Amino acid sequence: MNTANHTTLNSSDRAVYFIFGATGDLAQRKLFPAIYSMYREGKLGQNFAVVGLARRPRTREQFREDVQASIEEFCRFKPDNNEEWNAFAEHFEYMSLDVSSVPGFVELCKLAEQLDERFETGGNRLFYLALAPEHFGIVAHNLKNGGLLEGDGWRRLVIEKPFGYDLSSAEKLNSELCEVFKEEQIYRIDHYLGKEMVQNIGIIRFANAFFEPLWNNKHIANVQITLGETVGVEDRGGYYDRSGALRDMGQNHMLQMITMIAMEPPSRLNPEDIRDEKVKVLRSLRKYRSTEEVRGHVVRGQYAEGTLNGKPVPGYREEDKVAPDSTTETYFAAKVFVDNFRWAGVPFYIRTGKRLPAKATEVVVEFKKVPDNVYLTEKHDLEPNLLVFRVQPMEGVYIRFNGKSTGSSEGIVPVAMDFAHSSGVGINTPEAYERLLYDAARGDSTYFTRWDEVKLAWSFVDKIAEAWKEDTSDIRSYAAGSWGPVASHELLAKDGFKWWPVNGQREGEGEIRLTNRVDGQEG
Ligand code: BG6
Repeated sequence: MNTANHTTLNSSDRAVYFIFGATGDLAQRKLFPAIYSMYREGKLGQNFAVVGLARRPRTREQFREDVQASIEEFCRFKPDNNEEWNAFAEHFEYMSLDVSSVPGFVELCKLAEQLDERFETGGNRLFYLALAPEHFGIVAHNLKNGGLLEGDGWRRLVIEKPFGYDLSSAEKLNSELCEVFKEEQIYRIDHYLGKEMVQNIGIIRFANAFFEPLWNNKHIANVQITLGETVGVEDRGGYYDRSGALRDMGQNHMLQMITMIAMEPPSRLNPEDIRDEKVKVLRSLRKYRSTEEVRGHVVRGQYAEGTLNGKPVPGYREEDKVAPDSTTETYFAAKVFVDNFRWAGVPFYIRTGKRLPAKATEVVVEFKKVPDNVYLTEKHDLEPNLLVFRVQPMEGVYIRFNGKSTGSSEGIVPVAMDFAHSSGVGINTPEAYERLLYDAARGDSTYFTRWDEVKLAWSFVDKIAEAWKEDTSDIRSYAAGSWGPVASHELLAKDGFKWWPVNGQREGEGEIRLTNRVDGQEG
């Protein structure tokens, strides 16, 4: 493939990309592959450079080899031949940098100027901080002290989660960043917002006469969001034991998914109008006011040893860098309300956990049953209609409704229509990081979280975290490989609902069996 001749239609602006944390896991697994995919798709053009930055000394050649290895392993495109690869690799430089050293940033500024000239980037600079958040403030200030924010072109700062540990640390972090960058220059990543099917929620909702009129408390009984993971904490015990599932997944990915489901249609399709609507949802979240309310609405658990995919796995407390008496939750489920006119009375049940039986992210919208005084419901125990957004591992939309049982004159059974996104568009759809990096390079902040969203999300989560801190006696243990504590099923059962099974339960069309035993072993 001759990349030099790629069209640059819809391409990102020309720019230098500064990747802080370039020797880390995120850069290797996600960022370099994202940059290469953008290049191969002609979204990057030729006027770009990438500067890898980390403390570790690497030569430029070693760094280029690291990038190549990461692309070979993790990218959906592979280099066609050496010539093509070398043309791409030419855009990569490396500099060993201690982020507290101002002279280091002065030197980086000189390198940036050379690259601006060599690649004709117009002075545009994108700073990607794939670093622990305690370094965000110092990097931001030293970018300024080193002169990197002066001169022509735009400046954008892309930062990773976690954005703080609670509201007060997030406020402190934000004010440090805002001393140097304006809010519109800050792109806070929530990689769930880059996922194809999360972005598709708005389209499915607002572009379909099937759904839009029904999208409210008159027709929807409840919404269920599951973010299940089979992995344990792996090598992140140090971070995770302090964070836990609520901060790691709840404050960001889960609340963001609620906003996508619950927001009003924006008045215009621009980032600020869309994010204004998401903010309104977060503002409407009902806060739990007491420890009792938290107990009644939120269940937390920690995995004990168990079996997953036929293999024995250790319990959380046996994991590396985890305290042997840790009370950190690796699972939580909650009943959340969005107190506005559209959603009043509709529970949003959310759950996430490590070491669950399936890696799966799904949103299930359960519709109210048809009126129960008509002959059909007198004669039959009708199942509700479901609309399911399958975010991963499969991407698609699934609809379940009632139909006549084939061949039987009487029976009514749930039937399914399953749209697998991958079969419609091919399996090579861009990954979340690719989409988000591309958006940041074009200055489209729609799928990045604005400060007021972050702030409201923390103020919701802090109420739970505070109650949990006061008394840890409600944490339950669940066997690795199970669907979490039994109490999470009771959370729905007391409202007359049940968790709908996720992942792989509804292959094909026609009659399907959906069972859900309330014993932590979903059917
Ligand atoms: C990250 C969390 O934000 O999301 C991890 O820190 C989690 O703990 C990951 O494993 C899950 O992301 P994905 O895209 O694999 O569902």
